[in-house]
Amino acid sequence: TPALNIALLGGGTVGSQVARILTENADALTQRIGTRLNLTKILVRNPQATRDYELPTEYYTDDVDEVFEGADIVVELMGGIDPARELVLRAINQGASVVTGNKALLATHGNELYEAAAEAGVQLSFEASVGGAIPILRPLRDSLSGDKITRIMGIVNGTTNYILDEMDSTGASFNDALAEAQRLGYAEADPTADVGGADAAAKAAILAHLAFHSPFTLDQVYTEGIAEISDLDHKAAADAGYVIKLLAIVEELDDPAGVVLRVHPTLLPREHPLAAVRGAYNAVFVEAENAGELMFYGPGAGGAATASAVMGDVTSIAKRKLRGGPGRTHTARRELECLDIGEATTRY
Ligand code: NDP
Ligand code: HSE
Repeated sequence: TPALNIALLGGGTVGSQVARILTENADALTQRIGTRLNLTKILVRNPQATRDYELPTEYYTDDVDEVFEGADIVVELMGGIDPARELVLRAINQGASVVTGNKALLATHGNELYEAAAEAGVQLSFEASVGGAIPILRPLRDSLSGDKITRIMGIVNGTTNYILDEMDSTGASFNDALAEAQRLGYAEADPTADVGGADAAAKAAILAHLAFHSPFTLDQVYTEGIAEISDLDHKAAADAGYVIKLLAIVEELDDPAGVVLRVHPTLLPREHPLAAVRGAYNAVFVEAENAGELMFYGPGAGGAATASAVMGDVTSIAKRKLRGGPGRTHTARRELECLDIGEATTRY
């Protein structure tokens, strides 16, 4: 069986770990999938930069045409909207399947990309975009698709959970905790998206899309971040038996409210299960009519943890390509078209 060519857009915190897994685990992956995953090129801004995981310099390029040549699967881990959006569209239009962890892109231009992928008959997979290593999107889309989800509530941003936890448990300052979260590879290139709640809001929109079978965008999420929370707030919360957590909540309320999406700091009793989520871990509670309550928990950020989810999507696409099966995106779109849950609205 011919090898599948994997092109990486981005060789930073997550991209470099995907490159590591693809090269270090090449033989095991070949055995498991039935063909070789051949890492071709890695698009970066600065091909000469020193990187945590060093590959021979021939892998790195800033030439987009070179990266796209012969790519069967394009893995987008560069972040941001431009040029990520055009590059994902270019990959789809050249018939490559795409894996991305870019929640900001999906929560603003997701529909355009899902439609382009469905039209081109390729897959667009994004498990890494919510909850880092935690398998949460596939269970929502597949395992729970016969149930009716009523609410999802969770800690979906590792950076802010790390900062709040450090401030609460060690008395660290906000700035020191943020600097450490950046050093550990949890934060976005611009951490304003973490601290201001936009990253969690993008994830809320993606979760709501899968849970309620209707597209949502970032601007439909009421968003409040953690910038205003001081050590005095932590102390007052602790004295009263509470802990402060940034929660993302998406729920379907009775008409006319519809689906409500919100992200804001919340006071949780110390004995609440979400209060026990420490550091950059994430946890997502799902409430469904028949399944009841489910909790998904694990590392929510970081290079290796997120690369695990990316590689899950890559291997799943590779296996499907070998079987010649239809793309997952086709199935998702058909579901969206068939289900009529009425016009969803956002309430603040
Ligand atoms: P980094 O900032 O560490 O890496 C970004 C990479 O993309 C770098 O290699 C950079 O090149 C390259 N890049 C950025 N812009 C361009 C451009 N215009 N042209 C060419 N190359 C470019 O980001 P992360 O690895 O942390 O995140 C990547 C994506 O994964 C983001 O969408 C993020 O939201 C998402 N994600 C991140 C997680 C994490 O824990 N870090 C977890 C889940 C998702 P160079 O190295 O030369 O600067
Ligand atoms: N910056 C994000 C976070 C990365 O801290 O959760 C994982 O999506």
